[in-house]
Amino acid sequence: MTKPIKQVHLAAHFPGVNNTTVWSDPAGGSHIAFESFEHFARTAERGKFDFLFLAEGLRLREQGGKIYDLDVVGRPDTFTVLAAIAAVTEHLGVTGTINSTFNEPYEVARQFASLDWLSDGRAAWNVVTSWDAFTGENFRRGGYLPQDQRYERARTFLQTAIELWDSWRGDEIVADQETGRFLSTPAPGSFAHRDAHFDIAGQFDVPRSPQGRPVIFQAGDSDEGRDFAAAQADAIFTGHSQLEDGQAFYTDVKNRLAKYGRTRDQLLILPAATFVLGDTDAEAAEIAHEVRLAQVSPATAVAFLEQLWNTDLSGFDPDGPLPSFDPVVSDVDGLISKGRASARHFAKDPIGLANQWREIAAAKNLSAREVIVEVTGRQSFIGSADTIATAINHHVQEDASDGFILVPHITPAGLDPFVDTVVPLLQERGVFRTEYEGRTLRENLGLAAPVRGAR
Ligand SMILES: Cc1cc2nc3c(=O)[nH]c(=O)nc-3n(C[C@H](O)[C@H](O)[C@H](O)COP(=O)(O)O)c2cc1C
Repeated sequence: MTKPIKQVHLAAHFPGVNNTTVWSDPAGGSHIAFESFEHFARTAERGKFDFLFLAEGLRLREQGGKIYDLDVVGRPDTFTVLAAIAAVTEHLGVTGTINSTFNEPYEVARQFASLDWLSDGRAAWNVVTSWDAFTGENFRRGGYLPQDQRYERARTFLQTAIELWDSWRGDEIVADQETGRFLSTPAPGSFAHRDAHFDIAGQFDVPRSPQGRPVIFQAGDSDEGRDFAAAQADAIFTGHSQLEDGQAFYTDVKNRLAKYGRTRDQLLILPAATFVLGDTDAEAAEIAHEVRLAQVSPATAVAFLEQLWNTDLSGFDPDGPLPSFDPVVSDVDGLISKGRASARHFAKDPIGLANQWREIAAAKNLSAREVIVEVTGRQSFIGSADTIATAINHHVQEDASDGFILVPHITPAGLDPFVDTVVPLLQERGVFRTEYEGRTLRENLGLAAPVRGAR
C-alpha cells in the first residue's frame, strides 16, 4: 500500500529576541512596535500559514551579573499582542506560550476563551512549565517547583482549564427579545474543582467559545513532557528539526499516543526551523555564513564561551583559540548566566563538551568564535527556494515532522521571501493549501473538534 501524501503545516514564530535574531541588519525593525507584529502576521496570512506563534520570556536574562541587553525589547505580553493581531487578520491562528507554573487556571482559561471569541476560533495555547527558579522569583516564593511537580501541576492545570471551558454547553444564551429571557439555564458555567494544586469553585464567566477550547500545544522535551503531550496536547513545538533526529522524536512521541487511547493523527509534531534563502544554493550558503557571523558577534561568542566555561572571560579574544583551561564545574545553577537555555544545555557535561569543541577547532582550524558559529544555532534549511521546498516536503513525507514553525532572522520582513518563493512551490507540488480549508484554527490543522467533557 502506498503511503498517503501528507499536507505540510507552516507557522510563523515572531522572533522576539533570541540568539538567531540579527537586530543589527539595516532591514531589522522593532521587536515590540505593533507595526512589526502586523507586518509579520499579514505576511504569514498572505502565505496561508496555519498560525503565528509567540514564545514567552518572563524575566530579563543575566550574564555575569548584567542583564542581557537584547531581552529588553523582545517579548511584550502575549495576550495583548495576540488580541491585536487577531484584529488585523482573518484566518491566521494565534498561538501563545503561557506557563502553568506561575499562573492560575481560572485566569488563563478566561484569557484563552476571550482570545478565541475575539479571533472567532483561532486561539491556541502552548502550555509550558517554564525554565527555572530564577525566572520564577518574579512570581512565587522559592521561584519554582521540582520537575515532577511542575508536570503534575501542568496536567492538573490543563485539566482544570478544560473543566472551566466545558462548564458552558454553548446553548445557554437565548437572548430572546420577545420573551425577555436571556439565559436558558439559571447557573451556566458552574464549576467545582479540588485537587492537590487547586481548590476552586464558582461560575466561569466566558461563554463557550467558537472552538470550545483553544488548540493545545506542549513544548517540554523530557520523558514527562513527551507523555504530557501524548496524553493531552493537539500539537508539539519542538527543537528537533534535523531529519534523523526529527524522525526519532516523531516516532517516540507518536508511539506514546496509544497508551492514552489516542490515534497518531491526533497530535501534530511541529519543530522550530530557521532558513536562509538565495537565488542559488551557493548564494544561500554564502548568505548563511554571513548571517551566522552576524548572529555570533565577538561579544556574543564570548558570552557563549562564558556559559560553557562558567567563568568570567572579559578581555578574552574570541578570534584566538578556545580557552586552554577546562570549564569550571559547579553545582550552583547559573553561576555565570541566569535564565538562559543554552547555559543549562552546556552544563550537562561541560568538560566533555569543551573537549568536543576543541576537536572541532583542531580538525577545521577554527578560532573560538568560529567554533561557536559552528556549534550553536545552525540554520535548518539553506538553499534556493526549490531546494528548501524540496527539503521541507521531504522532512514531512519522511515523518520527521508534520510541518514547521519558521523563525526568520530578520524582524519583521524576514518571512516575506519565503512566502513569495517557497510557498508557491509547495502549492504547485500539491502539499500546501492554496486557500484556508476551515474557519477555525483547529479545522485548518485538520484536528477533530473536542468532545465536551472528554480528556
Ligand atoms: C522547543 C521548546 C520551546 C520552549 N519554549 C518556552 C518558552 O517560550 N517559554 C518558557 O517559559 N519555556 C519554554 N520551554 C521550556 C519548557 O516549558 C520546559 O520548562 C523545559 O523544556 C523543561 O522541561 P523538560 O525537561 O520537559 O524539557 C520550551 C521548551 C522547548 C523544548
